[in-house]
Amino acid sequence: MILLCGDCRLLMPDHGPFDLIIADPPYGETSLVWDRHVRGWLPLAAKALKPHGSLWVFGSLRSFMATAPDFRAAGLRHAQEIVWEKQNGSIFHADRFRRVHELLVQFYPATTRWRNIYNAVAKTDDARGRVVRRKKRPFHSGNIGSAVYHSLDGGPRLARSVQCFRNTHGRAIHPTEKPVALLDMIIRVSCPPNGVIGDWFAGSGAAGVAARLAGRHYVGCEIDAEMAPRARDRLASLLPFPAGERA
Ligand SMILES: C[S@@+](CC[C@H](N)C(=O)[O-])C[C@H]1O[C@@H](n2cnc3c(N)ncnc32)[C@H](O)[C@@H]1O
Repeated sequence: MILLCGDCRLLMPDHGPFDLIIADPPYGETSLVWDRHVRGWLPLAAKALKPHGSLWVFGSLRSFMATAPDFRAAGLRHAQEIVWEKQNGSIFHADRFRRVHELLVQFYPATTRWRNIYNAVAKTDDARGRVVRRKKRPFHSGNIGSAVYHSLDGGPRLARSVQCFRNTHGRAIHPTEKPVALLDMIIRVSCPPNGVIGDWFAGSGAAGVAARLAGRHYVGCEIDAEMAPRARDRLASLLPFPAGERA
């Protein structure tokens, strides 16, 4: 487990290539001192991916709309998105809906076919018993064949794209700390066991905790000289990898 202190644009390229990059950059939507749009990190991150690697980025619809051309220019293609639903959200505007969600969007290099990207399909064991009749789907939607089968109560089905996780308000060490359980889910789906995760905007190091739980290696980077040692201490308090594994 490595937690670097400094600018990810300078430090992270030398620590790749990564099987998975997690990026939770400042959205540029609040008056917090560090909440300023960071330019130029995307092409560097895209270059730092392994051929089968992908990138999950946190953001709001507003921040993704503002940066959409940057993803295309970096040679990245949209794969899918998850809506993270929180138990309570933030009020940014008194005259709009209370925002209780954030987006988590996965991108992959346009030079690689999606089927060659590492992807352990996310499933939940909550199917209801019924007869399923499935039509054949075109090749571009994953070569899904036709079938008729009986699903069982409690059997597997594809995980839903809206996922509810409690946010960490009240116990967080960072103002926008993400839930470990959410990061754990992403990591298990998109990083092979023993793979290397690059967390380019590490904040509290929450993704490092998730990486440890999932048995993946972790390199995080945080520019804030006060937050980085706190994240480092958090990671140091976790159990080490079993003997013989790379830390
Ligand atoms: C949205 S927060 C990340 C929160 C983190 N995901 C967590 O769960 O704790 C963004 C972080 O990026 C850091 N940051 C901003 N610019 C950076 C840069 N150029 N390199 C590395 N970190 C940066 C900020 O200091 C801030 O802590």
